[in-house]
Amino acid sequence: MSKVTEFNAGIISTGRALPVGKVTNSDLEAILETSDDWIRSRTGIKERRMITGNETNSELSVIASSIALERAGLRPEDVDLLIVSTVTPDLTLPSASCLVQAKLNAYNAFVFDLVAGCSGFVYGLSVAEKFIKTGAVSNVLLVGVDVLTPIMDWQDRNTCVLFGDGAGAVVISQVEADRGLFASKLFSDGKKAEVLFTPAGGTKNPATHDTVDERLHYVRMNGPEIFKFAVKVMAESTLDVLNACGLSPSNLDYLIPHQANIRIIESASKKLGLKPEQVIVNIERYGNMSSASIPVALDEAVEDGKINPGDLLALVAFGAGLTWGSAVLKW
Ligand code: ACO
Repeated sequence: MSKVTEFNAGIISTGRALPVGKVTNSDLEAILETSDDWIRSRTGIKERRMITGNETNSELSVIASSIALERAGLRPEDVDLLIVSTVTPDLTLPSASCLVQAKLNAYNAFVFDLVAGCSGFVYGLSVAEKFIKTGAVSNVLLVGVDVLTPIMDWQDRNTCVLFGDGAGAVVISQVEADRGLFASKLFSDGKKAEVLFTPAGGTKNPATHDTVDERLHYVRMNGPEIFKFAVKVMAESTLDVLNACGLSPSNLDYLIPHQANIRIIESASKKLGLKPEQVIVNIERYGNMSSASIPVALDEAVEDGKINPGDLLALVAFGAGLTWGSAVLKW
């Protein structure tokens, strides 16, 4: 039985960092057999951000984190736990979170990476909540960050048009018992690992000249298979998590879905009976930023004054693994 607490765990501040460089659909038309019309109509994406120069996963994470910490009125040394949700760390060893900790000077924190594909932010939120609720820590800094453009095959129009780079960060702390995270639901199906994976570069197929020549260090994806899966689980898992706290879609003020494809988002919203203005969408400007999609969309919606204290939000994501999950929280 879970411990009854007089407080809840909630997001108390947000921040984001996006690379300066933009790649528009017409830029892609110049290097691939594709068109702005195909990309916009099949995905909803008009442009995406791409790291250049000194921009890296850890640099974007530090910028987003510094903004979130400042807005929370906290210093880096006040962070007890730093979780970096990512599939695209600067290095394969050590963890992305260790690099972010050092750059941020969050020297009182223990840190780890969370690898759950595009569901990373929702997974991280759920894990952070448990640490706060047990009283083990007071302040969690959760970063959802991915830089996917370096692992895209820019000769593969099936994948490279979809993804972009970015970071979002939130501070999670104790809040009053009637707000914060009400419930979360996490799911995985490792049997579907090969619908979205990187064939080489791990320990099974270490990088060699041959793996590079065969372009095996780039992401491979079965888009239609993921599409079918996503359309099913996005609505289902949102309903699941709402049920878990005795609520229904009619109680929601906003849905913040993972931004992978506008058609997936619209299908889920329709099944849930939500009006378009209740669904936070920014895919046209950023494409799919994996773990960064939801925290960046959240940060923008808060900054725009769309989301206000007392609003009921559902977050829902799916990603490589396969993984999926959802959360309900009161802002
Ligand atoms: N430009 C032009 N044509 C293209 C492009 C492109 N960029 N990409 C694919 N095509 C072509 C294909 O080659 C194929 O042509 P063919 O029929 O001659 O073989 C055709 O378009 C496929 O068309 P559709 O079947 O209509 O494509 P679909 O509607 O399935 O859309 C898409 C493809 C956008 C990839 C879709 O399946 C999708 O979004 N899937 C989900 C992908 C996803 O969300 N991935 C991220 C998971 S989350 C994570 O963890 C990172």
